[in-house]
Amino acid sequence: MHPLSTDEIRQRYLEFFRRKGHTIIPGAPLVPENDPTVLFTTAGMHPLVPYLLGERHPGGKRLTDVQRCIRTQDIDEVGDASHLTFFEMLGNWSLGDYFKEGAISMSFEFLTRVLTIPVEMLAVTCFEGDKDAPKDEESAGIWEKLGIPRERIGFLPKSNNWWGPAGLTGPCGPDTEMFYWIGEGEPRGNPVTHDAEWMEIWNDVFMQYNKTAEGTFESLKQQNVDTGMGLERVAAVLQKVKSVYETDRMQPIMTAVLRAPANPEQVRHARIIADHLKAACFIIADGITPSNVDQGYVLRRLIRRAVRSTRQLTEYGPGFCAAIAQVVVEQYGDAYPHLKERARTIEDTLNQEEVQFSKTLQEGLKQFAKAVTSSGKTIDGLTAFHLYDTYGFPLELTKELAQERKMTVDESGFKKAFEEHQKLSRAGAEQKFKGGLQDHSEETTKLHTATHLLDAALRTVLGDHVYQKGSNITAERLRFDFSHPDKMTAEQLQEVERLVNQAIKDDLPVSFHVTNVDEAKKEGAIGVFDARYGNEVKVYVVGDPEKGTVFSKEICGGPHVARTGMIGGFKIQKEESSSAGVRRIKATISGGPVAIEVAKEQ
Ligand code: ALA
Repeated sequence: MHPLSTDEIRQRYLEFFRRKGHTIIPGAPLVPENDPTVLFTTAGMHPLVPYLLGERHPGGKRLTDVQRCIRTQDIDEVGDASHLTFFEMLGNWSLGDYFKEGAISMSFEFLTRVLTIPVEMLAVTCFEGDKDAPKDEESAGIWEKLGIPRERIGFLPKSNNWWGPAGLTGPCGPDTEMFYWIGEGEPRGNPVTHDAEWMEIWNDVFMQYNKTAEGTFESLKQQNVDTGMGLERVAAVLQKVKSVYETDRMQPIMTAVLRAPANPEQVRHARIIADHLKAACFIIADGITPSNVDQGYVLRRLIRRAVRSTRQLTEYGPGFCAAIAQVVVEQYGDAYPHLKERARTIEDTLNQEEVQFSKTLQEGLKQFAKAVTSSGKTIDGLTAFHLYDTYGFPLELTKELAQERKMTVDESGFKKAFEEHQKLSRAGAEQKFKGGLQDHSEETTKLHTATHLLDAALRTVLGDHVYQKGSNITAERLRFDFSHPDKMTAEQLQEVERLVNQAIKDDLPVSFHVTNVDEAKKEGAIGVFDARYGNEVKVYVVGDPEKGTVFSKEICGGPHVARTGMIGGFKIQKEESSSAGVRRIKATISGGPVAIEVAKEQ
């Protein structure tokens, strides 16, 4: 039998869980929508947080998807056999439906029956218990009953066998992780006794707790399951290759990067290039351009790190990044058609950034010349780090240039500055992430409902050509992009603001019902009709149909406030052009109650 391809593993996963009653939902974009506190989607559960907290999902209680993820915490590890900044997570969820028994037996069936992994090659870990939750003997017992022997079951503390919350607060719980034997010879022990020889491939999280701001764990109103399987790792295992870079979809990218036989150091650089440029392609395809802040900054760093690594290879020339991007699009364009659609943008963006970067390098050479004249025989560590950080000079380049002038570089000083910076940027990254689930706080829920009111008011004032082109909410404001050819007049803006405030004053009820896309269209609901939630959708109605006070009807995942009065007051701060034919409004709200109630099903 031929080994399963990456594409087949994806398909089989979704198909298996579909047959087990799960709705296949599309993965979310890499940049979380309406979520100001996280830069990237880092796990399949991320876009599902409101539903893990109890919000009804239109797809039902069993969901499955493939989620593209970016994790930059371990960016410096990229280049070894298993670390990636971009990866695909296969996941299945139970929203208050099946729990441990169901999740574990489906995982076992998928691994052993569908992927036909021999039981002997598998081991698992379970939560060992502490003051917050008991030892997970239940999961261990289920594994044993299925055929995993006791010696293959390890118990570990929270640092290993507990997942979430993704931010400071939110859903979390003990997990059980599945491992594949990658050591030499016959499988031995378990991941506790033989850590390096068992590779984690899948994680079943039992999200039954909500971590509060005080750091305590309270029971969630529903017991959820959140699972995540690393597609690249499973593909490597099934295809019997030694690293995630040698699978059927990654090898062609590696081959394009590395045309000649290479030493281990060059292989490491080639992996960095393959991973970073692949990540860059996906980030650009999700609408980000290189910049000095937030996602744009991560994108810029990825591209520049890739370009830096190309200097260690001989094949490099202008246009190299775009050429690799073409291979990425070839390999992933079928599974991710938006990559194909935006192939041109991806290539243009990479080319521009490459040019921009080489200008920066030129500037760096000037800085280097200055540093040389003022520093005698050694280039100090801080200067070398500055050249590295601001101008993208690898230490090797600074050393070479110094050598040409019979100078040396203070390498330990460089290392110190580097580590200092790393600590800071890690702290920064975590900071950004810490807010985590605050995004689904009261304030963003209110702003979200205000966005629906704004959408409806714009259509009333400007006409039915108005369509949502984008929406972004932070804790402070909403931003709404919509199709409209001209700058809005002061009168139009005033009228839109007045209509929204009137709807707030009327304290209209908000509720939702679940229907399918066709029915939703028929009843006149506006909103994004891309199969984002599968064919089943939620329609949020603002106003009372029986009293004839319907103000807005929109397809949306929620959540929303239960009554418009909770929004307080609405103010448009700015109206400007976003792109050709698209206008942008930024608006704020104020004066509503701190505590809110969320809209319920009708
Ligand atoms: N959310 C879990 C993880 O990322 C499944 O491992």
